[in-house]
Amino acid sequence: MVKITFSIIKADIGSLGGHHVVHPEIIDLAEESLELAVEKDIIFDYFVCNCGDDLELIMTHNKGENSSEVHKLAWDTFLKATERAKELHLYAAGQDLLADAFSGNIKGMGPGVAELEFEERKSEPVIVFMMDKTDPGAFNLPLFRIFADPFNTAGLVIDPRMNKGFDFLILDVKENKQVKLSCPAEMYDLLALIGTTGRYVIKQIQTRKGMPCVSVSTTRLSLLAGRYVGKDDPVAIVRAQSGLPAVGEVLEAYTFPHLVAGWMRGSHYGPIMPVGLNDAVCTRFDGPPRIVSLGFQITNGLLVGPVEYFDDPSFDRARQVCNEVSDYMRRHGPFMPHRLGPDEMEYTTLPNVLKKLEDRFEEAS
Ligand code: F6R
Ligand code: MG
Ligand code: MG
Repeated sequence: MVKITFSIIKADIGSLGGHHVVHPEIIDLAEESLELAVEKDIIFDYFVCNCGDDLELIMTHNKGENSSEVHKLAWDTFLKATERAKELHLYAAGQDLLADAFSGNIKGMGPGVAELEFEERKSEPVIVFMMDKTDPGAFNLPLFRIFADPFNTAGLVIDPRMNKGFDFLILDVKENKQVKLSCPAEMYDLLALIGTTGRYVIKQIQTRKGMPCVSVSTTRLSLLAGRYVGKDDPVAIVRAQSGLPAVGEVLEAYTFPHLVAGWMRGSHYGPIMPVGLNDAVCTRFDGPPRIVSLGFQITNGLLVGPVEYFDDPSFDRARQVCNEVSDYMRRHGPFMPHRLGPDEMEYTTLPNVLKKLEDRFEEAS
């Protein structure tokens, strides 16, 4: 059986109307670049889109995860896009390209990467999730519910292929260490970690037999750069059906617009809104954070589709709740818990403001 690799590599290389949306010319330019790569047999197929101000390169190939050829293709595409973004004076042109030159693997250079290598099943539905104005920990809650919570996923109880549970690979983004935990046996330990969304993030999920099901981009730009350079706006790949959660079970988790870190200046908690591609526009207070979901069939390594999942009235209620929660959170203005806590604010511009008060503090009487 031939293995294929599904890669999403994404970056904010500049946007139109502030930190808002990718310019249509940039999408065209990225498509041209990936079309050439198909002709050169670097990749099998591609789909280019944007989630807000993030340019998303969705690709299939047979080069495996961390292929320097595929990563270089993405890096060169982002460089070309940045050149045009600079000519157009797009906002924050080149923002996520933190390195000067490509060094073999795009991870750690700024762009976000989610990759999954697997044997294509007889029918292979794959779901792509793309978020804007938040960070990788935003996937913790929904992925836990999809792969570990029987109140979300009926198959965990009903389908004998699923009821042994799944293994979660958790990354400590601060220490760059990882740990594998099995659900349901170690569910409480898993929750003890992933409830701390700014530090412990779900990186991969596998079946008990080691079949890869999920990959999440885990870049923390601020930790790479040591300063605030925009949020990490993560992406995830989720395989579905036939012994894995059904597409509807995967999507069900997004009917709850949970609170995520990000929003304005990457410094606020706010609810994440599930939307179609056309509504992935962060307007109000640079948000609220958005999530888009596309479905593909992988057919002999090619991408058939996509379908859009959240462009659907059954997510209207989630969007309505999201708007209500946004009103409620916004009324806190600069106060926690709307504004992030001091740990997370360390990588914003707030410490520079606090610094100027340092000398004015005196011993309290
Ligand atoms: C969040 C984000 C925006 C900016 C905000 C200020 O990830 O990108 O909310 O932080 O618009 O941007 P500057 O400082 O570039 O004016
Ligand atoms: Mg931006
Ligand atoms: Mg973004």
